[in-house]
Amino acid sequence: MRIIKASDYNEMSRCAANIIAAQITLKPDSVLGLATGSTPIGTYKLLVKGYQQGNLDFSKVKSVNLDEYCGLDGSHDQSYRYFMNTNLFNHVNIDMANTNVPNGIATDLEQECKRYDRLIEELGGVDLQLLGIGHNGHIGFNEPNEFFDKTTHVVDLKQSTIDANSRFFEKIEDVPKRASTMGIKSIMSAKKVLLVAGADKKDIIERALFGPITPQVPASVLQFHNDLIVVVSEK
Ligand code: PGA
Repeated sequence: MRIIKASDYNEMSRCAANIIAAQITLKPDSVLGLATGSTPIGTYKLLVKGYQQGNLDFSKVKSVNLDEYCGLDGSHDQSYRYFMNTNLFNHVNIDMANTNVPNGIATDLEQECKRYDRLIEELGGVDLQLLGIGHNGHIGFNEPNEFFDKTTHVVDLKQSTIDANSRFFEKIEDVPKRASTMGIKSIMSAKKVLLVAGADKKDIIERALFGPITPQVPASVLQFHNDLIVVVSEK
């Protein structure tokens, strides 16, 4: 495990964007595992800048996102598909057909989860997985649990997650109660994992990286990953 301490959010973003840029440069047809949330927004902004300046080419990149709210269509401004389109995909030369987010409005969500796992397999697995972390230690929407969920599955969101995400919705009742998420095995199968965390995540980062490995702190499983980079912002 490598921990990079960035002095602030901008440096954290720069560091993370440089690592992703290096991945794309070294392997132009990389499969990127992507994350939503406020933490990676700065990273995506810098990747867009890298593309606009002619330093990055996304034309062969493929992407799979970690998760999606159940019940939200990709055109809903709080869906994770919408987030990815507006924060990254619409601004770089990635082929939209190569971008993947679980379908939150699939009629059969279980089948959709299976399809998503097959898709990741067919793509040859994830080369670099970008992750944020929840205050409760969740990665993707793998919430604290009695066991580690393995593959893509539908989860009931914890009240703490619903509360944390309510800042993006008009009313707390509008926050979806369920989501589809890649599982812990899917995340752990990525060849490289890049976890980004702001200063507000200091306590949970400490528990996840140095505490006991337990499904009660899902991110703690990352201690077992043999190519984990954590970029944490000091303030
Ligand atoms: P945040 O979310 O980046 O908005 O803090 C991270 C997460 O919950 O995974």
